[in-house]
Amino acid sequence: MNGSDKIFTPRRLGHVNLIVDDLERSMRFYSDVCGLTLEFTEPGLKAGFMGTGHTPHDLGMIERTREDRFGKDGHLQIPKGVLDNVTLNHIAWEMDTEADLVAGHERAVRAGVQIGRTSDHQIAHSVYLKDPDNNVVEFYADMVRDWRSVLHGEMDLITSTWHPGATTPATEPRWDPSPPIRRIESADFHPQRLSHVVLTTSNLARAAEFYTMVAGLRTVRANERFVLLKGSHDGGKYHLALVASERDGLHHFAFELETSSELERGTASLQRRGLKLARSEDGPIKKSVFVIDPDGFAVEFFSAKAVLPEEPERCPSEELAFLL
Ligand SMILES: [Fe+2]
Repeated sequence: MNGSDKIFTPRRLGHVNLIVDDLERSMRFYSDVCGLTLEFTEPGLKAGFMGTGHTPHDLGMIERTREDRFGKDGHLQIPKGVLDNVTLNHIAWEMDTEADLVAGHERAVRAGVQIGRTSDHQIAHSVYLKDPDNNVVEFYADMVRDWRSVLHGEMDLITSTWHPGATTPATEPRWDPSPPIRRIESADFHPQRLSHVVLTTSNLARAAEFYTMVAGLRTVRANERFVLLKGSHDGGKYHLALVASERDGLHHFAFELETSSELERGTASLQRRGLKLARSEDGPIKKSVFVIDPDGFAVEFFSAKAVLPEEPERCPSEELAFLL
C-alpha cells in the first residue's frame, strides 16, 4: 500500500453497536436517560436500534447469546460463541455512496485486507472487518434516504448476504442531508448526535496506521499519547480518538448536546432521579459528564468549546481518555 492509497474514506461516524446482557433494560436506559428514540427492533435477533435521527441509528444493541442466529436468507448471521460476552460489537462508518463502498471493498480485497462479511441490511449495505486490536469495524452506505419508511417497529429477518458489485452500485448519496432530529422530552439528556468514540490501544502507531490507511480517516491531531481522526464530512471536531494504554478496546462513546445549559439541565435531571454521574470534566476541548450504562459502558454527554486547543491538558494517561 503506498501513501495515497487509502482503502475506505468514510464521511463520518455512523453508529456504535454493543452486545448487552438484557436488551429491554438497555433500551429503557438509552431512552429514559440518554434521550434516544427506539427506531426499530429485530425480536428474532434480540436487537434494538436507537438514535436521534441523524442517521438510521446512533446506537445498535444486541442481546448476548450462546445460540446460532440466522438471517433473512437462512444464512448464519451470528454463529454461536460470537456474541457470548458483553462488549463492543462494532463501530460503523458512513460512506458517501454505495459506489464508494464497493470501490473500497475492491481495494481492500486487492490489498489483502481480511474481510469479515458483507451484508444487505435493506436500508444499507455493509462491509465488516477487524482493526489490529480486534475491534470490528463496519463501513456502510445508506441505500434508502427515507429509511423510516422501510424499517420501523418490530422487524424480523432484515439482513441477508450482500455481494459487492454484483449489481451496479448507486453513485448518488442516499444519506439524508437534513434529517429531523427527534427529542424525548422526558429524558435527562437531549443529544444532537453520536459525536465520537474513544478507543484505547496498546499499540497506538499500529492502530493509527489502520485508521488512516485502511479506514481512510483524516488525522486532526497526533502525538505519542493520542491520535484524533475524522471522516471527510465537516461536522464535529473529531470522530475517533485513539489513546495509548495497556488495554485494547472501547473506552467510551460520546453524544453532543447543543449548549452547556443543556448539559447542566441533564445533569440536574439525572440527579433528581437519584442516578449518579460517573464523573464530570471541564477540560480544554469540552465540558462533559459521564454516565455508566446497565452493562458498564461509559457514555459521555458534552457541550463543545470553541476551538480544539493545541494540546489537551498534561494529565496522567488514565485520565487522558476522559478528556477526549
Ligand atoms: Fe452496524
